[in-house]
Amino acid sequence: MSLDNIYNPYLMRIEKVTEEAPGVKTFRLDFTDDSDRERFAFGAGQFGEYSVFGEGESTFCIASSPTRKDYIECTFREAGRVTSALARMEAGEVIGFRGPYGNIFPLEEWKGKNLLFIAGGIALPPMRCVIWNALDMRDWFKDITILYGARTVDDLVYKHELDEWGKRTDMKLVTTVDPGGETADWKGKIGFVPTVLEQMSPTSSNTVAIVCGPPVMIKFTFPVLEKFGFDSEMIYTTLENRMKCGVGKCGRCNVGSVYVCKDGPVFTYRQLQSLPPEY
Ligand SMILES: Cc1cc2nc3c(=O)[nH]c(=O)nc-3n(C[C@H](O)[C@H](O)[C@H](O)COP(=O)(O)OP(=O)(O)OC[C@H]3O[C@@H](n4cnc5c(N)ncnc54)[C@H](O)[C@@H]3O)c2cc1C
Ligand code: FES
Repeated sequence: MSLDNIYNPYLMRIEKVTEEAPGVKTFRLDFTDDSDRERFAFGAGQFGEYSVFGEGESTFCIASSPTRKDYIECTFREAGRVTSALARMEAGEVIGFRGPYGNIFPLEEWKGKNLLFIAGGIALPPMRCVIWNALDMRDWFKDITILYGARTVDDLVYKHELDEWGKRTDMKLVTTVDPGGETADWKGKIGFVPTVLEQMSPTSSNTVAIVCGPPVMIKFTFPVLEKFGFDSEMIYTTLENRMKCGVGKCGRCNVGSVYVCKDGPVFTYRQLQSLPPEY
């Protein structure tokens, strides 16, 4: 990436395409330039602007862990022009990537604590990055629990990793689908994420909760966490406001005086409570 023009992207080759769910794909991307690969570094929670030449840019988190070097991954749902163009691309083709941008989940501060991850639908990608980062530093943390829900069994993403996490003895995975979204052989829970969370009676003692999901899930999950005694400073989430530049220049992502692209996208619930309600 050119150092004198912040809008010049890295060139990244699509190494692998994984179909995660209907309309949802994961790309594994590698730098076309060896020196770019060597100097690139990022933290869990950061995002980038992914471009299809001639079509435009889309904002996605980096879904792979910073502990896994030599590649980055993104997972996206076909939503509009750029994501549809991305969905038509195949392994071997080259896309642009600007980043990493934004702040990070403070894993160092969480050392010695229990981690409770709560994710819904396509919002697992930003969480997957920090989950793998935490699992790769497993001795830093006490209990690790993941609650992940989707509308239907088909809509669950990273199914092979859910299988892997489900078999691990050093963490607990709870999966759920909305009522009616189950299949005959579904072995997980049936119910909305906030309801299942309530049934789990999570302990707030020495625990950080990380919540990523659609706004409606987040809206009903925060009160459950508060009911179980979680302090708003111990609840983290990541915002997905529309962005353009990604670097604090265009004003597209502002909420009050906060630039989600620069001051976020990771915020505590305490920070969100001080923002105007439009976030
Ligand atoms: C920090 C951050 C991380 C993100 N991470 C991911 C990710 O990992 N995977 C993923 O699939 N998506 C992610 N998103 C959302 C993603 O950027 C948009 O859905 C995407 O830009 C749509 O791409 P498009 O250009 O094809 O659609 P467009 O043509 O731009 O829009 C298609 C439709 O989606 C709506 N839309 C576009 N962007 C947003 C948005 N940010 N919020 C609400 N509605 C929007 C438009 O209004 C329109 O209705 C993230 C967004 C942010 C800001
Ligand atoms: S996206 Fe341009 S200022 Fe945040």
